[in-house]
Amino acid sequence: AANMAEEAKKLAAYSAVDNNVQNNQAVGVGSGSTIVYAVDRLAQLLGELKPMLSLLPQARQLILQHGLALSDLERHPELDVAIDGADEVDAQLTLIKGGGGCLTQEKIIAGNSKCFVVIADYRKDSSVLGEQWKKGVPIEVIPMAYVPVSRVIAKRFGGEVNLRMAVSKAGPVVTDNSNFILDWKFEDVQNWSEVNTAIKMIPGVVETGLFVNMAERAYFGMEDGSV
Ligand code: A5P
Repeated sequence: AANMAEEAKKLAAYSAVDNNVQNNQAVGVGSGSTIVYAVDRLAQLLGELKPMLSLLPQARQLILQHGLALSDLERHPELDVAIDGADEVDAQLTLIKGGGGCLTQEKIIAGNSKCFVVIADYRKDSSVLGEQWKKGVPIEVIPMAYVPVSRVIAKRFGGEVNLRMAVSKAGPVVTDNSNFILDWKFEDVQNWSEVNTAIKMIPGVVETGLFVNMAERAYFGMEDGSV
């Protein structure tokens, strides 16, 4: 099953790159295990395409290892296309992201791109958020505010909010922006756009892992080898 999911990630990534990236474009890439296949494919096509990549700190190494050009939003404030993985994708292409601890910089990349394309294996394809992904919505917060933010979210929107703890050391997970992550296990949300906006307005919230009306297309690698 693990092999099948890896194959599915690869199929989705290759197909997204082949169908959405053209010569000399500024391409934004996010983080996670699926995006690795997209960078592989970009590197294979480099001879023909010469893509320019504008990217996240944690993808820097990946880009450099593949001999691709590294850029940033100062040099390329508007990207032609951004490609990224997701933890879950619903029927409206609303995404949950941040399972790996990165969401704010990914959202900046996606938000400054003419076209945002999601790549994932069949396990991420949902009709309604929460159907597959059980860990909740990741929310990046300023460390000093994590308790009040948790209380406000639980009180106003229900469910349960937990501070994400590090696995191999003591203490909370610290993000690329030196913040903490809350995982909100929601119950019964109807309007993700409203909820996303309301959470963002709480003092101390930096960003949510909800990507509403951002993705233009999603490529899912399926179990039968189709995309
Ligand atoms: C990183 O925090 C996330 O937003 C990733 O994009 C997401 O977790 C998908 O990762 P995988 O490609 O490893 O499933």
